[in-house]
Amino acid sequence: MAISFEIIHKDIAGRIGKLKVGERTIRTPALLPVVNPHLPLVTPREMQEMGVEALITNAYIFNRSTEFRERALAEGLHAVLDFDGVIMTDSGSFQLSVYGEVEVTNRDTLEFQQAIGSDIVVPLDIPTPPGTDRETARAELAVTMERIREGQALFPEAHLAGPVQGGIYTDLREEAGAAVQELGFTFCPIGAVVPLMESYRYKELVEVVLAAKRGLSPATCIHLFGAGHPSMFALAVAMGCDLFDSAAYALFAREGRYITTHGSLKVDELAELPCACRVCRTHTAEELKKSPDRERLLALHNLYVTLAEIARIRQAIQDGTLWELVDERCRSHPRLLAGYRELLKHAPELEVQDRASKRRFFYRGDESCFRTEVLRYHQMIPRITLGERVLISFDGRELPGFDTVLGFKPPFGPYPPELGETFPVGQSEIPEYDDAMVRSGCAGIRSLMAAHPESRFTVRCGAAWATVVREEVPGAEVYDEQV
Ligand code: GUN
Ligand code: ZN
Repeated sequence: MAISFEIIHKDIAGRIGKLKVGERTIRTPALLPVVNPHLPLVTPREMQEMGVEALITNAYIFNRSTEFRERALAEGLHAVLDFDGVIMTDSGSFQLSVYGEVEVTNRDTLEFQQAIGSDIVVPLDIPTPPGTDRETARAELAVTMERIREGQALFPEAHLAGPVQGGIYTDLREEAGAAVQELGFTFCPIGAVVPLMESYRYKELVEVVLAAKRGLSPATCIHLFGAGHPSMFALAVAMGCDLFDSAAYALFAREGRYITTHGSLKVDELAELPCACRVCRTHTAEELKKSPDRERLLALHNLYVTLAEIARIRQAIQDGTLWELVDERCRSHPRLLAGYRELLKHAPELEVQDRASKRRFFYRGDESCFRTEVLRYHQMIPRITLGERVLISFDGRELPGFDTVLGFKPPFGPYPPELGETFPVGQSEIPEYDDAMVRSGCAGIRSLMAAHPESRFTVRCGAAWATVVREEVPGAEVYDEQV
């Protein structure tokens, strides 16, 4: 299959990559705006000028359109849409999930998608909605897998995507990921997540995406089907999703909604346009509300904001600051916070993907204690070599009579002086000590003590932290300045 994916930078399980589809290459993470040929609020040509390298459109709509069907067959999608980037087509699956039935077969849609010159074609997968019982979900997954295999057998040369279904059942998602991977796909959309996102079920979203990822190879390019609101992109990228497709920019515009990275606002309630895009800097809020072009202007703004978030995420991956961006974005809604906390619970599986060194570690509250860098540091601690009598000093001051003196940097824990300038200890910025970070640092002390039963440990922590240290590290002597 002539789709290839190359990973260039990593952060958490997120990555910057190059997706090569035939002769065309796009950078990831990427946003594929959804283009409806009947109502192009923003034209594909304008999108290309805004930096869009790939878009998605619906083959089902083209197939059913008297206006576009023959033109697409004769001239090809790239000419009809006037776009020379990557064009992905979706099958009728979404219509299937909304209307229950579509009069198109898997073979028909795959044949049609190729005939109109689509760069990435999608089989007629079944998006199993969240309310579905396990047996139905399993049966629908079997149909999806059969259609994927049929697609491969009928069109071995096609740039076929391998959708991962399975409903909300994490075991089915993992199985589906592994089964699609087994078939050799390098491009896999994770499907049927729109209802989860629409109802803010981000915790379950994290569960099903991570389950699918466990079955898939980390080298596979992942498209999160139907994800279009920028407030959740950082979270999704941190899980290892590479592509998004957004109809949200247009759907929200139609409803008079102004997208921001921390939620959407009703344009009618805005007195200001707090955004740096061309639309917002050339209109006042009043002008935008009253403009005869309002829907199109809103769609443009929504698209600018969405694309800017993709750029911000790419920069964060390069810098190694994606956790901080996830933390920031996920505080804009309690249900996103629940998704973020679920993600942190999976730190062990994320840690193996994460990179070794980052530009910095900013402590942003309790959640930071569960980050991959802290977990990795705690796993490394047993390798520190020690003498018999060990002092761990919170403020760096020494005491006589010790063979080894270690510093202390919460939420990581004890560190030898030679690690004081390296990542993460040297590049971490923390505010005044708080309870969560000190307890996390104490877990590091416990891990060190467990690895060195032959040593004796004293913690010089001052009176303020003596109670916490006694509680967390019962085997150590506490020097609290009062003895
Ligand atoms: N668009 C949004 N979700 C889905 C899905 O699960 N499958 C397909 N083919 N398209 C989608
Ligand atoms: Zn704007």
